[in-house]
Amino acid sequence: MKILLGVTGGIAAYKALELTRLFVKAGHQVQVVMTSGAKEFIQPLSFQALSGHPVRDSLFDANQEAGMGHIELARWADQIVIAPASAETLAKLRMGRADDLLTTLCLATDRPIMLAPAMNRLMWRNAATQENVAVLKQRGLDILPPASGEQACGEVGEGRMPEPQAIFEAVMHAEKARLQTQQAGSELKAFWQNKALLITAGPTYEDIDPVRFIGNRSSGKMGFAIAEVAAKAGAQVILITGPVALPTPEGVKRIDVRSARQMFAAVQQHYAAADCFISAAAVADFRVEQPASQKLKKQQDVEEMTLTLVKNPDIVAWVAAQDNKPFVVGFAAETNDVVDYAKDKLRRKKLDMICANQVGEGQGFERDDNALTLLTETSEKVLPTMSKHELAGALLRFVSQSMQG
Ligand code: C5P
Repeated sequence: MKILLGVTGGIAAYKALELTRLFVKAGHQVQVVMTSGAKEFIQPLSFQALSGHPVRDSLFDANQEAGMGHIELARWADQIVIAPASAETLAKLRMGRADDLLTTLCLATDRPIMLAPAMNRLMWRNAATQENVAVLKQRGLDILPPASGEQACGEVGEGRMPEPQAIFEAVMHAEKARLQTQQAGSELKAFWQNKALLITAGPTYEDIDPVRFIGNRSSGKMGFAIAEVAAKAGAQVILITGPVALPTPEGVKRIDVRSARQMFAAVQQHYAAADCFISAAAVADFRVEQPASQKLKKQQDVEEMTLTLVKNPDIVAWVAAQDNKPFVVGFAAETNDVVDYAKDKLRRKKLDMICANQVGEGQGFERDDNALTLLTETSEKVLPTMSKHELAGALLRFVSQSMQG
C-alpha cells in the first residue's frame, strides 16, 4: 500500500518514526509530509532514513514539486494517515483550509484519511476540538481516539497519541475492510445491479421529555455495512437510520429518523418501490405514552416514578403483511437459544428470511465483527465470526440466492 504519512507539530511526532518503521517493515511505501510545527520537534532526515524517501514539507518548493507535484502526490497515496494530528490540524481540516502542503493534500484527495490526534488533555476536551472531531467524523474521516495517561506536559488525562502498533493495526484493518467491501461488491453485481434495497439501521430513541429518552446500544454498523456493500454492487440503496455516529456510505440515500414511529413513516413511504427490505434496526418495542413537553422535575421525597409505555408498530411485520411486499429480511438479536427464537420470529412475523445473532457480553452490538445464522423456511447458513463488511457480503449473497428461489 502507498501510505502518505502526515506528521504535525507535537511531542508525539517522535512516535511517527516508529510508525514509519512498522509500515516499511510490512512492505508498504511511505511518503512522509511534515508541517513546519513537526520540524520543530524532529529532523526530516530521520524520516528520510526510515522511509527511503526525502520528506515533503513545502507547497512552494520548486525542487520538491518538480519530482512529484502536490496534486500528483495526493493521487499517489492509497491512504493518508496523520499521526500525530495536532488541534490546529483538526481545525484546519474542519475548515477546509489549504495553507500548507499537508492540508492542501487532504483537500485534493478522495482517498481515505485516518487521524491520530495527540494534544494536551484540555485542548482535547475543548468544545472547539470536540466539535471539529465530530464534523470530521461525519465527513467520513477515520479518527482514532487518543489514549489516556501521563502527558508530556506532566498532566494526566486523555490526549496521548495511541501507540504506533495500534495505529498500524487500525490502518491495516481499515484497508482490509475496504478490500472486502470492494470484492464483495463486484461479485454481487450480477444480481444486485439496479435492484432497489431499503434498509433500516441503528437504534430508535423514544423521548421521555426534551432531554431524556429510552434508547439501546445498537451502533448501526451492521446495517451501514450492508448498505455500503450493496451500493458497491450497484444497488439503489435507501438507508433509514436512527441516531448513530456513522458517515453515510458512498452512493447511499440516507434518511435520518429518531423514533420508531418516524422510522415506520419513512419505511411506509419507501417499501413499495423496494425489491428487498432489510430490517437491521434495533427498534424500541415500546414508547412513552405521553412524553413531557418540559423537562421532568425531580420531586423531593418521591422514591418511585412510573412511566406508561405503549407498544410501537412492528415495522418489519407490517411490511411483510402487505400485498405488494418486497423480499423481507429481519434480524433477531438474542442472548440465548438464538436459532429457536429466530425461527419462531421468522414464522410469526411472516418474514422471508431472518438473520440471528447472539448479543450480550462482548458480542453483537457496538462491535466491528459478529457471527450470524441466516434462516429461511427451507434453508440455513451459519456465518462464523467475521467483520461486519464480510458478513454483509455473505448476507447479500444468501439473500440473492433466496430471492432467486
Ligand atoms: O421482535 P424483535 O424486536 O426481536 O424483532 C426483531 C426484528 O424486527 C428486527 O428485524 C427489527 O428490525 C424488527 N422490528 C421492527 N419493528 C419493531 C420491532 C422490531 O421492524 N417495532
